[in-house]
Amino acid sequence: MNALPATQPRWPLRLARRAVSPALFDFWATRVNPLWTLEQPLARLVSRTAASRDAVTLVLRPNGHWKGMRAGQHVNIGVTVGGRRLIRSYSPTPMQDGALAITVKAITSGLVSQYLAHEAPIGDVVTLDPAFGDMTVTADHESLLLLAAGSGITPMRALLRELAARNMPVVVDLYYWARQRDEFCFVDELMELAAAHPRLHVHFLATREGEASDARVDATSFDGIGSLDQRRVLACGPGGFVEAARARLSGQVASFDAEAFSLPPSDASENTGEVEVHLARSGRTLTLSRGQSLLAGLEAHGVRPPSGCRMGICNTCSCGRQSGTTRHILTGDLTSEPSSQVRLCVNAPGTDLILDL
Ligand SMILES: Cc1cc2nc3c(=O)[nH]c(=O)nc-3n(C[C@H](O)[C@H](O)[C@H](O)COP(=O)(O)OP(=O)(O)OC[C@H]3O[C@@H](n4cnc5c(N)ncnc54)[C@H](O)[C@@H]3O)c2cc1C
Ligand code: FES
Repeated sequence: MNALPATQPRWPLRLARRAVSPALFDFWATRVNPLWTLEQPLARLVSRTAASRDAVTLVLRPNGHWKGMRAGQHVNIGVTVGGRRLIRSYSPTPMQDGALAITVKAITSGLVSQYLAHEAPIGDVVTLDPAFGDMTVTADHESLLLLAAGSGITPMRALLRELAARNMPVVVDLYYWARQRDEFCFVDELMELAAAHPRLHVHFLATREGEASDARVDATSFDGIGSLDQRRVLACGPGGFVEAARARLSGQVASFDAEAFSLPPSDASENTGEVEVHLARSGRTLTLSRGQSLLAGLEAHGVRPPSGCRMGICNTCSCGRQSGTTRHILTGDLTSEPSSQVRLCVNAPGTDLILDL
């Protein structure tokens, strides 16, 4: 751990804002203290503990540029792995002392999750972008149905802690799916919250444990919880889970908000073939598959536009489309409006395109 003071002196910041670029300031200031920057929020990794068989909880302590977040929101976190800068989204729990706790499931062959789960040294410094996402709870009169699969539990845990701090003002049912029992995170904490707050009911469902034929979301009966039609549903997990939950509860609940952590499986028989994508600024023309996102296709050619959540939520990858048709991977919608913005991570090329890249 660095013994230098964590608090950055203010007067060099005021001078520097007038005199030098943020990049130049950061280059030199981070050599004095890795957390000192002109504007960029950074955080230091201060601890790592096991959260389940394949997940860890990391505590991050942000510098003074971090503007905070609401429970249920997400943050794009940047790390350097093998000399390459990579950004992924995580759903932190804001701690009372200002730290952030992220719980990361180690995905097989996943670049960032494996690094965070197993390799990132304590003391490592990561970048933070401003928090984003709408899965927050505002009105006290709503009754909630929270659906989480796998690492989709992370925003729910943050929401439940916030609601518990407000003495659980609404009825909440949490349904939490994992493949096996040892993959559940926060079991003791969730049980303790439910014991302390009679309005909170927690249901753990293991999909690959014993005779678990009714453990999938599409086969789950929610009859027992009552007042389903008055529930605000928040769902989070892999894309296939979110789509199944939406289909299961469509038209039966007061509202349904969901955020997916990964794209649903695509039908490879559709959207075959290739198109030409012209990058207006660099003058390059690339041949991309109609079956994958523009972001993935561009990256495969070594073009790395800014990106973050890779799920169409944070808007970091938004880019001008001068002409051509794109297909939204999640909804299937085709858009051809010239001179409009397209989110590269959740849109695939439908026809030849010209992009502002
Ligand atoms: C808004 C948002 C919030 C997120 N919050 C969290 C969080 O709190 N904790 C957490 O562990 N992850 C979270 N994720 C997922 C996270 O951003 C990364 O996608 C994940 O850590 C894998 O990154 P990677 O670099 O290891 O894998 P990569 O090398 O990028 O790719 C590995 C593959 O794994 C798939 N994948 C991504 N996430 C999952 C998953 N959860 N289960 C199965 N397959 C997956 C990807 O689609 C990709 O095909 C969140 C994602 C989003 C969009
Ligand atoms: S990377 Fe977040 S919207 Fe595309």
